[in-house]
Amino acid sequence: FVLVHTFPKKRSSAQPVISAKHPFQVELKQGKGYAWCACGHSQKQPFCDGSHKRNAPKISPLRFKAEETKEAWLCGCKCTKNPPYCDGTHKEGFVQNAELHSQPQK
Ligand code: FES
Repeated sequence: FVLVHTFPKKRSSAQPVISAKHPFQVELKQGKGYAWCACGHSQKQPFCDGSHKRNAPKISPLRFKAEETKEAWLCGCKCTKNPPYCDGTHKEGFVQNAELHSQPQK
């Protein structure tokens, strides 16, 4: 049994940052496509603004289509296990006690 550890050179670019310690309430429209920010760098939370290309090239936004028109809570901490939706993970200590990521440089 071998334990494999990988040490990516730029760990920060492969890990999402916590953009908020709470979810964002949005109105999804049936049939419309959305791109949920998975890297945490977007300034248009909870949606992608293309920031991953510069700040987290290894992370892609999660694209999804709304099946129905409804209100939804999309994850802002980027730690949910049910992306793009909030699953309550943001209430955990490692999110609540984390330093919030400062806004990306332009
Ligand atoms: S905001 Fe990420 S799990 Fe709730």
